[in-house]
Amino acid sequence: MILDTPTKGTVTWQSPSNIALVKYWGKYGVQLPRNASVSFTLSRAYTKTSIRYTSLSQTSENVSIDFLFEGKKNEKFEKKISRFLNSIVEYFPFLTALHLSIESENSFPHSTGIASSASSMSAFALCLCQIEKDIFHRLENEEEFYQKASFIARLGSGSACRSVYPYLALWGRLDKISTSSNEYAIPCYEEIHPVFKTFRDSILIVSAEEKSVSSRAGHALMDGNPYAEIRYKQANQNVLKLLQAMKEGNLTSWGEIVEKEALTLHALMMASEPPYILMHANTIVMINKIQRFRQETNIPVYFTLDAGPNIHLLYPEKVNDKVMQFIRKELVSLCENKKIIHDQVGLGLEKRK
Ligand code: PMV
Repeated sequence: MILDTPTKGTVTWQSPSNIALVKYWGKYGVQLPRNASVSFTLSRAYTKTSIRYTSLSQTSENVSIDFLFEGKKNEKFEKKISRFLNSIVEYFPFLTALHLSIESENSFPHSTGIASSASSMSAFALCLCQIEKDIFHRLENEEEFYQKASFIARLGSGSACRSVYPYLALWGRLDKISTSSNEYAIPCYEEIHPVFKTFRDSILIVSAEEKSVSSRAGHALMDGNPYAEIRYKQANQNVLKLLQAMKEGNLTSWGEIVEKEALTLHALMMASEPPYILMHANTIVMINKIQRFRQETNIPVYFTLDAGPNIHLLYPEKVNDKVMQFIRKELVSLCENKKIIHDQVGLGLEKRK
């Protein structure tokens, strides 16, 4: 495709990471989930991406790009982005008519144990939709814009599709939720109790080392996991239970589901063929401390884990001071280099000028 008139412009989006409360673990096709999942959208851990586009006089066979990550050339990321762009030309045919100069930066340092694929893929997908909107005046309807951004982010990195909505997003088809889809996430914060919009997520870094088994390999191992089918059913039920608890503002049943989900995710890893363990000794020490602290004080503080050893400590803003004291007294010494990243649930993405 060639554009009728020479075109150039710049788009910039900032998009956050997310933390799953009900986990997506197991997929088919191009990042289609075997079960529904729900996540909190975070605020402070984000990726900011800018794309400067200029039209080419001739269509290029492969999408033409140059890429800077945090101001420097990064060949590994550039190759990954190039491969991804070439795989989505059917959704953005104009890509072969442009040269893209892409710049991306994270608000969090590299190798801190925070996965950057959700924030980077969602920021990238939003930029591409913005280019389509600016050049062709399509995707003018907000719902359509975010739905396509979520769809494209999913093709890049599954759970990234949940990062394009504020507070809480649901991804995966559930018969009881007619707007839900396996192809993209939908926003689901409108009916939740306001306490959940104040939630903090203190990420306790047990280890920032690269995981011994990647998420991609972990998803693939679900195909041979004898518990897979029952797990997928359980996750779908947990989504409905969790959303009900969030409507009611019932922190106790919410927390029970969240912690069970985290432990189930890791139990699935231990029951894979071959089995593997991503938790570290200090992950378990901290889980015990968190549960004991909650029993003794009645303070609503809960944990979740993603596919790694680090703990996400989740609690409402109103207990922030007490939780900070608890972290200082009992948890910080168990973190690698005393590293903790304090994030919070938030509005998420931002279009930048
Ligand atoms: O999106 P992926 O392929 O990185 O998988 C994410 C898997 C978990 O973080 C463990 C769960 C989730 O739903 O985010």
